[in-house]
Amino acid sequence: MIQNEVAVITGGTSGIGAAYTRYFASMGYDLIVTGHPGDKEFPHLKEIEEKYNVKVDLILADFAIKENIARVEETIREKNVCVLINSAGFGLGRPFWEDDVQTLENMVAVHIIAPVRFIYAVLPQMISRKKGTIISLSSLSSFIPIPLDSMYSATKIFHNSFLQSLHISFRNQGIKVQVLCPGLVKTNFHKNAGTDPSLLQKKQILPWMNPERVVEISIRNLGRKNKVIVIPGLRNKMIKLLYTMIPKPLYYRLAVKYLV
Ligand SMILES: NC(=O)c1ccc[n+]([C@@H]2O[C@H](COP(=O)([O-])OP(=O)(O)OC[C@H]3O[C@@H](n4cnc5c(N)ncnc54)[C@H](OP(=O)(O)O)[C@@H]3O)[C@@H](O)[C@H]2O)c1
Repeated sequence: MIQNEVAVITGGTSGIGAAYTRYFASMGYDLIVTGHPGDKEFPHLKEIEEKYNVKVDLILADFAIKENIARVEETIREKNVCVLINSAGFGLGRPFWEDDVQTLENMVAVHIIAPVRFIYAVLPQMISRKKGTIISLSSLSSFIPIPLDSMYSATKIFHNSFLQSLHISFRNQGIKVQVLCPGLVKTNFHKNAGTDPSLLQKKQILPWMNPERVVEISIRNLGRKNKVIVIPGLRNKMIKLLYTMIPKPLYYRLAVKYLV
């Protein structure tokens, strides 16, 4: 069993992040979990602490606020962090010009600025120990421009490029890097984005996966030498392949018809 090694899981209060908290606690890691401030309780964190006899520190921090990102960076630098999971995120589910510009900027802060700063903070320890795991949550939609969530897809594709570069830099230095690109996952994400999950469910285009299954696939693929981008689920992989192959003028025509 690993002692005193720490896994930092942003967005670990819910959904995919919460599934990672269960996995890493079961492996004996102490956890630093971040969540968005609000009037909520997180009973799974107490359960994890008791069940696996690990220490769980919760930081409530809105990453749209610079000082909150800095608080998490400071904590990362003080601890023996071996695992960093960047899972915090949100969707908007509307044309971007209908949102106020501050919300759009907040998305850039949560999806890009915060993860980059956390990776920057954790790397020196990982490099000197020649050991570490960094996973960032991207999305299947990062490969496919979706008009109703254009900012979302665009902020997520950042990770596909950034983490592949990190993989190339660190693949021979004991640091495992992964960018996880799920399709539809049963979490609070869609309700919070104001989209009706039952409508998406009715269309039956994409399969719905449980967060635990998504995390299982992520862990199974972790550290496979050239498996950096992980798309959980065969149907999701096929959709990505289809998008790659389809002539783009045809995609634009179909998207105007079905996705706007
Ligand atoms: N669900 C899907 O279908 C799906 C598909 C592809 C990719 N993803 C990605 O997977 C990641 C996890 O999403 P999920 O499905 O697990 O959704 P979720 O259940 O809504 O979890 C999102 C997490 O991010 C935190 N968060 C939201 N806004 C934040 C902010 N401004 N500052 C700091 N933390 C914030 C939330 O905190 P609280 O719970 O405390 O509010 C929560 O812990 C996201 O990056 C998402 O983009 C999700």
